[in-house]
Amino acid sequence: MLIPNARGALSETVFAAMRSGDTAHLGEAPPSDTAEDAQLTLWALYEQHYRGFEDVAGELEWDPQLIAVRRGLEREFEATLRSRMPEAPDPEGFEEAFFAFVADHDGPSLAAHVKRKATEEQVHELLRHRTIYHLKEADHTTWVIPRLSDRVKAAVMELQFDEYGNGDPNRLHAHLFVRGLQDSGLDATYGAYIDEAPLETLEENNAMSLFGLNRRLRAASLGFLAAFEATSSSPSRKMAQGLHRLGFPESMIEYYTEHVEADAVHEQLAVRTICGALLAEEPELHDDVYLGAFSAMDLADRYAERMLALWAA
Ligand SMILES: [Fe+2]
Ligand SMILES: [Fe+2]
Repeated sequence: MLIPNARGALSETVFAAMRSGDTAHLGEAPPSDTAEDAQLTLWALYEQHYRGFEDVAGELEWDPQLIAVRRGLEREFEATLRSRMPEAPDPEGFEEAFFAFVADHDGPSLAAHVKRKATEEQVHELLRHRTIYHLKEADHTTWVIPRLSDRVKAAVMELQFDEYGNGDPNRLHAHLFVRGLQDSGLDATYGAYIDEAPLETLEENNAMSLFGLNRRLRAASLGFLAAFEATSSSPSRKMAQGLHRLGFPESMIEYYTEHVEADAVHEQLAVRTICGALLAEEPELHDDVYLGAFSAMDLADRYAERMLALWAA
């Protein structure tokens, strides 16, 4: 992947420095023009820790100037996420309280729209945006593994092993998505659609990296995982039904049917065996579990609101 097109003064400056390797003057980088400019910059800085960019030298992954820009953007973004959050439920009876918190959350459903009335073109747009996450599906949770106790680590590995295909590269969830994209006539090249990704997609991906790459936010990472899994099974069924209605290829439908079954198991694992065990050991992390969980649902809502408004217009 090449570095994306800039979307403002900050991304322009930071991307030029990443390409040239001359990062010495980033201390005087201009402020971001818009939230999108800030989020795209942060996304590209995080991407250095995943697959990276062909036009950026590998040694810049730990460049102190770039890390300083990242830290500034992360601080702002974390404050924004915390400011959006409602009060966390009482710590008593975590598992049941968590499932109730997720069930009581009411947001717009993109999957319901896809099931009943989305056009093929709208679904193509949705799938292009979803490549930003699904082509590195589950990777953000992998960052958190070395930061956990043996008990929690083993449970996260059980879930991740499934996301990564149980040892079969053809069953890797990211790979199932690749096959679905190819058969649907879309570009499955990693990062191909980053220039199309709207603010809400960038925010969602950045929240995953923020929580995964900062040890102090490990509980938010696992809370994000738990809410993500707990809100996946039934929408995945609706997505599969909508794709079937529109005549999408079997491989694209299979990506979603795989998640109907898998995520019904993953949600139990993530809420009870992962977050439950984490909080039994470190109860002071309770509110951070909810920071992650609320962010997962709220960021999905924000994206759904944008797309439903756009398509209604
Ligand atoms: Fe998955
Ligand atoms: Fe899953």
